[in-house]
Amino acid sequence: MSDRDRAPTVELRGITKRFPGVVANQDVDLLVESGEIHAVVGENGAGKSTLMKVIYGMQRPDEGTILINGEDVHFRSPKDAIEAGIGMVHQHFMLARNLTILENVILGAEPTVASVIRFSEARDRIRELAGGYGMALDPDRLVENLAVGERQRVEILKVLYRGARILILDEPTAVLVPQEVQGLFASLRGLKRQGVTVIFISHKLDEVLEVADTITVMRGGRTVAAVKPAEVTAHRLAELMVGSELPRPEIRESTVTETVALAVEGLSLRGDEGQEVLRDVSFRIHCGEVVGIAGVEGNGQSELIEAIMGIRAVEGGVVRLGERDITAWRTRSRRESGISYIPEDRHSRGLLLSAPLWENAMLGYQTRPPFSKGFWIDRQGARGRTSEVIDHFRVMAPSSEVSAHALSGGNQQKLIVGREMTSGPKVLIAAQPTRGIDVGAQAAVWEQIKQARGAGLGVLLVSADLEELIGLSDTLWVIYGGRLVAHVDPRTVTPEELGGFMTGAGAAEESA
Ligand SMILES: Nc1ncnc2c1ncn2[C@@H]1O[C@H](COP(=O)(O)OP(=O)(O)OP(=O)(O)O)[C@@H](O)[C@H]1O
Ligand SMILES: [Mg+2]
Repeated sequence: MSDRDRAPTVELRGITKRFPGVVANQDVDLLVESGEIHAVVGENGAGKSTLMKVIYGMQRPDEGTILINGEDVHFRSPKDAIEAGIGMVHQHFMLARNLTILENVILGAEPTVASVIRFSEARDRIRELAGGYGMALDPDRLVENLAVGERQRVEILKVLYRGARILILDEPTAVLVPQEVQGLFASLRGLKRQGVTVIFISHKLDEVLEVADTITVMRGGRTVAAVKPAEVTAHRLAELMVGSELPRPEIRESTVTETVALAVEGLSLRGDEGQEVLRDVSFRIHCGEVVGIAGVEGNGQSELIEAIMGIRAVEGGVVRLGERDITAWRTRSRRESGISYIPEDRHSRGLLLSAPLWENAMLGYQTRPPFSKGFWIDRQGARGRTSEVIDHFRVMAPSSEVSAHALSGGNQQKLIVGREMTSGPKVLIAAQPTRGIDVGAQAAVWEQIKQARGAGLGVLLVSADLEELIGLSDTLWVIYGGRLVAHVDPRTVTPEELGGFMTGAGAAEESA
């Protein structure tokens, strides 16, 4: 068969998917050619994840037709989709941490002979698969010892192991640092050479332009354009998505004061297995200052934040809020004294997914006005504040009564950011505050941070987005191996230089 008469691998015609109060996908058409890398972009809530779940059999469309390799299909569940050669990797990884790569990959698809699992066969097959796509992985390593980028490869392998020829990835690069993104792209290109079709969602338009063969743009539940990277710029893509310009995070005048908002002095802590995670970490955040921390994931930044929030006990050192030593305080007291917290993992720490938005909007602050009157929860006050957050931070939600899991990923994040910033904090601890949110909303969050900083807020910013770190920080540190190894000037440093410090290369240079 020549390329010309081959049917597209995935063709959607007139797909509509409704949720109570929302049309997530409206009369959507999508065409994915065989063996291409196809990107899907669009604002938060545009309907991207829903559309992918429709293809993967997780959501049943109310109307429309799905054709896979030219055949009309009706999936009742992901099981049917997997049988048809479709695999999906979700944004939140679903691996068992205490099992090996091998065990995770074959879980549920074990090759057996008379019900005995044939590990050696599986091990060979995994090596072969991984090698074929240029992903180096030792099948016997424990998943908990893997870096984020490696875990993602395991998720991809798991899908390929089940015979997927169509691979769907929902925001795969959101959790990766730049070096890992390049690794992922190399793997995707390897897959493409083997004839695998890849569909992926991303908010990072530069990356999309770099790796995709075709880009579908969604807006308000519809597909509004399908373009080739050579025909567009990031600017034009953003216009197609939101009808506005690509924003840049930039702070011009300094608002840094002499007053110390938060100080960390000689902080050390050990991990669950006794290994050293933070060593003698000291820095200060002044009122009106954004202090950024750059680092490859797993170098202690998450633990540092958890120590500051009182979620993790420290082994040595002091945390001060203004003049007060808060090292022994509970998390609740820290929050009530004016430390706001945007956690990295919005699902396990940031939200109660099954609770309504108005409850989520007061999470952690329920003992304070406007959420309480004396001992009682003030529902009206809580609902009023929720509406404010929804308006101000442009959270797309039908009402404050729906549960948090009815919001798209980016809108969940906006709700958390809004809650933490409207509580009138003195210090904001922000871990990946704009992860998963679209370019327009990202600019809005940057603007909010800048305004709050101008009004005297002290901010600790940990982010994998180097442009965000460079653009927002007044002071920028690099964390490596649990230590602050470099102090760089955000006005002059380039993302490449910063990347060097983050992988330890530049650190040696500086001390030499
Ligand atoms: N299970 C659900 N119940 C109710 N509404 C839902 C559900 N899933 C999604 N929605 C709604 O459908 C719309 C599209 O959501 P979807 O998750 O597809 O957006 P998205 O484009 O992936 O956004 P993001 O970039 O923020 O991840 C949103 O308004 C969302 O609130
Ligand atoms: Mg999504």
